[in-house]
Amino acid sequence: MKKEEMYVKGGNIRFRKATLKDLDKIQRIERVSFRNPYPTYYTKALIESLSDVSIVAEINDRVVGYVFARVEFGAVGHIITIAVDPAFRGLGIGKSLMIEALRLLRERGCRSVYLEVRVSNEPAINLYRKLGFVIKRRIRGYYKDGEDAFLMERQI
Ligand SMILES: CC(C)(COP(=O)(O)OP(=O)(O)OC[C@H]1O[C@@H](n2cnc3c(N)ncnc32)[C@H](O)[C@@H]1OP(=O)(O)O)[C@@H](O)C(=O)NCCC(=O)NCCS
Repeated sequence: MKKEEMYVKGGNIRFRKATLKDLDKIQRIERVSFRNPYPTYYTKALIESLSDVSIVAEINDRVVGYVFARVEFGAVGHIITIAVDPAFRGLGIGKSLMIEALRLLRERGCRSVYLEVRVSNEPAINLYRKLGFVIKRRIRGYYKDGEDAFLMERQI
């Protein structure tokens, strides 16, 4: 069993609210995870004020993933971004982060949650499907490079 796997299976993972001290670690994961990563100032704003739900996953004090979400119109949750350190993928961390985000969004009054995902992003689409999200529509040219997005949604 790989070291990372042992940590996760051993239950050593912990979730907490993101703080500005996490900014560098989050940006490092953001840069290796996305073709058009969010700039640092935007991630900083997400941590400080732009998001209503901001969670990091930690293993032995190392940030290995994060999720940011917002409450819109008082009742609709929007997953803004989620990513897991490539060395820690496939261990259930992304799924746990999403479950935690859905729980907090529900606590804050949301009854439905939506997100956008690249039509080519099979791992993420599978993850969302597994959690009960369904594709509602396709948004043409949603991303900077022209790729389409699926808008996915689920009730909570
Ligand atoms: C999408 C992402 C967050 C998933 O995180 P993860 O911790 O690796 O995912 P999990 O281990 O919790 O996997 C949960 C489910 O997702 C799906 N999944 C995860 N990785 C997958 C892969 N490489 N291929 C296909 N499906 C995959 C599977 O359905 C999996 O369930 P299973 O293990 O029972 O088969 C991660 O791949 C990532 O950070 N990607 C880059 C950033 C990104 O694309 N974010 C989403 C933007 S919309």
